[in-house]
Amino acid sequence: MRIAVTGASGLVGRALVPFLRRAGHEVWRLQRTPPTDDHDVLWRSADRQFRFDPALRWDAVVHLAGTPIADKRWTDPQKAQIEQTRGALTRQLVDALVAMLEPPKVLVSASAIGFYGDGHETVLTEASPLGRGFLAEVCHDWEAAALTAQAAGMRVALLRTGVVLTAEGGMLGKLLPVFRAGVGGPVGDGMQWLSWVHRDDLLRLIGLALTDERLAGPINAVSPEPVRQGDFARALGAVLHRPAFLPAPAFALRLAFGQMADEVLLAGQRVVPEVAQRCGFVWLYPQLAAALSAELSP
Ligand SMILES: NC(=O)c1ccc[n+]([C@@H]2O[C@H](COP(=O)([O-])OP(=O)(O)OC[C@H]3O[C@@H](n4cnc5c(N)ncnc54)[C@H](OP(=O)(O)O)[C@@H]3O)[C@@H](O)[C@H]2O)c1
Repeated sequence: MRIAVTGASGLVGRALVPFLRRAGHEVWRLQRTPPTDDHDVLWRSADRQFRFDPALRWDAVVHLAGTPIADKRWTDPQKAQIEQTRGALTRQLVDALVAMLEPPKVLVSASAIGFYGDGHETVLTEASPLGRGFLAEVCHDWEAAALTAQAAGMRVALLRTGVVLTAEGGMLGKLLPVFRAGVGGPVGDGMQWLSWVHRDDLLRLIGLALTDERLAGPINAVSPEPVRQGDFARALGAVLHRPAFLPAPAFALRLAFGQMADEVLLAGQRVVPEVAQRCGFVWLYPQLAAALSAELSP
């Protein structure tokens, strides 16, 4: 397939591009930085428009771009940036794709399990309703924008992604120095559910979504075994052979991160991948201990 990828320089994208190329696909990167090879297409960030030659032809697009959601305190400008680079940006991308001479047939668009809000103990499937809060609204707008591509005949798969595990960055990358120093531990009371996916499994799920006609609409991109936050901390400590009992108290997180602490760090989501399981997807890393060992063992 000829596949265009937005956000190709990110944590997921920079592994996805070689993964898809190794599988024999021709991969184009839609990026904000100047092209470095003839399969790079510049997206002009100054006027926030995707401008590419409408005569280009792609069979599918994987849309990963957007300002990081959990990197900074959610000030008003930061929230506006998160909203703009999910809803509006996705709408602009879809408009540009629809205007191509031969629009792609498939759009695989990232979303997040933040769609479900704080689910407490509820087991969340793709059929579960939209949750409450800023992140849930952002995910809803992001997905609605991607789904407008259906009107042009595209199959749209929405990957509601859990915490992506790789030692290269993201949540695990941030926790590693703390845990290696022996001062890691559970976040808050440690009882909240954490739904995660090893990056290799996410790449394989994106690969499946590109080719399997059955995959349309929301797909929970998580492992089948979510864990409680406290168990995650203990498993990480065990793999690193370090103590992991120093909690990060909720009040300190709220002080440091404000609303983001409540919606991302202290909220729990017990998400199960019902759609992927129904399609027969087999995880390389269904269990946390093996996923962490694969990333962190020497
Ligand atoms: N990592 C996770 O744990 C996780 C969990 C749930 C959902 N997700 C979602 O999955 C997608 C991929 O995740 P990721 O971890 O690979 O993200 P990431 O590392 O933050 O990378 C996202 C990419 O988006 C582009 N980007 C950054 N700021 C932008 C802006 N202001 N405007 C437009 N584009 C911008 C950049 O690509 P260029 O510089 O190449 O344009 C960047 O490399 C994201 O949408 C993310 O929200 C990730």
